[in-house]
Amino acid sequence: MMQFDFKKESTKESVLIFATRDKVLKTKKLSPAKLKVVNQSLLQADFKAKEGEIVSILGAEQQIIVVGVGAKKDKNAFETIGGKLVSYLKGKEASYYTMGTFGLTEVEEAVFVATGMMLGGYQFDKYKTKDKKEDQQVKKVTFVLNEPTKAKSAFKKVLPIIESVYMARDLSAEPANHLTPVLFAKRIQELQETGLEIEILSLKDLKAKKFGMLLSVAQGSQNEPKVAIMKWIGNPKKKTFDIGFVGKGVTFDSGGISLKPGAGMGDMKQDMTGAAVVVSSMRSFALRGVKSNVIGIVGLVENMPSGTASRPGDVVTSLSGQTVEILNTDAEGRLVLGDCLWYMQSQYKVTKIIDLATLTGAVMAALGEEYAGLFSNEDSFAETILSAGKESGEEVWHLPINKAYDKMIDSDIADMKNIGGRLAGGSTAACFLARFIKKGVVWAHLDIAGVDKYEKSRPITPKGATGWGVRLLNYLVE
Ligand code: BES
Ligand code: ZN
Ligand code: ZN
Repeated sequence: MMQFDFKKESTKESVLIFATRDKVLKTKKLSPAKLKVVNQSLLQADFKAKEGEIVSILGAEQQIIVVGVGAKKDKNAFETIGGKLVSYLKGKEASYYTMGTFGLTEVEEAVFVATGMMLGGYQFDKYKTKDKKEDQQVKKVTFVLNEPTKAKSAFKKVLPIIESVYMARDLSAEPANHLTPVLFAKRIQELQETGLEIEILSLKDLKAKKFGMLLSVAQGSQNEPKVAIMKWIGNPKKKTFDIGFVGKGVTFDSGGISLKPGAGMGDMKQDMTGAAVVVSSMRSFALRGVKSNVIGIVGLVENMPSGTASRPGDVVTSLSGQTVEILNTDAEGRLVLGDCLWYMQSQYKVTKIIDLATLTGAVMAALGEEYAGLFSNEDSFAETILSAGKESGEEVWHLPINKAYDKMIDSDIADMKNIGGRLAGGSTAACFLARFIKKGVVWAHLDIAGVDKYEKSRPITPKGATGWGVRLLNYLVE
């Protein structure tokens, strides 16, 4: 793990980092002769101080790095800087000299850069027995600023969020043989020590309670399903929940009897990212001690083809009592979520719910890796989520649901079918979920199929599992 320190002065560093040219040219850290070299190097490199632009000047005993901040000079710019610096600092000790002159305080600047370093320095190598990248990690960074104590405590406050992003990425990247529903539930149970109240429903419980849709997905697999309920009571005086989160936790989605094509099927180990993000966010609420009451429910199942698997054409009765004709066993996420949403509303006092799910290829095709698809039964709620998305850097795009899309999932022989046809796949999937939302409940659905994984590394998100959503949910709950 990367180490950070905050000090008024620093002495032993091998790398000195300065944000922009002014800071480095005013420093008393460097001799006039050295400063001349630095200035020349910046001129030679045609340094324009663009966001994340880096000039690294190697000296005999010290390396000097100057980074550009760009025009916006906001939180995101400094996180980007942090993320970009990581690759220059492998195995080294560095000092970062804060500016604090960009409308951000020195403390904020340091915290954002440190956050970017951590998020950008993430790696998943637990299954490598050699070529581990640990020694390539940043050893230690000291932030030099006037109020080190303040910075230390500010960083301590954001650390639970960063570590929960790590947790979401770890869970999301975990292969399906190492993260079955049972093993996932065990990892959730361990979070009890954070102060979360945890309850796990077993196969027997789920049968007794009649989670008909969820069980139809699970019935083809040797691995038993689980449903986990997590409660964070940050405001004990209040007897209701301020918000509820539901996550799709399909630990592997083969498609079932409607089997997916082989190419890329391995990516479907990540079909539990919604659940990973809900679980990790719940952990961060507990560790931060947020003052709201929050409930999270995740449906953990494996979707497999076998002699016991559900068939296309089967009709099942959901927990809500509504019947569903399963015309494609690969549209399984909505079956899992529908029962979990219903359970949350019937068992707990909560009138604001968001679900997160890697639900459709259609949303991925429409929005790619740039935005999650947002659907809601309440425009003002959608607005709130949109702006939290902008602030957190995890952005969403509002997509429609309406009566026409809803009609597309009417079934000839049951109350509804689980697919809506070739068109508007994201919207018909959302309309399916909406049929499991009670009157008076404000609900939004985030289809994260495109954003749960990046093909190429970004400054604060290395390629692979992104843990997208943990920061957004923290902004929302805040
Ligand atoms: N888990 C998939 C959606 C998905 C696809 C996520 C690609 C990430 C990347 C989901 O269960 C699924 O298979 N959806 C089908 C629904 C269709 C059969 C109506 C889809 O989108 O193709
Ligand atoms: Zn599927
Ligand atoms: Zn799926």
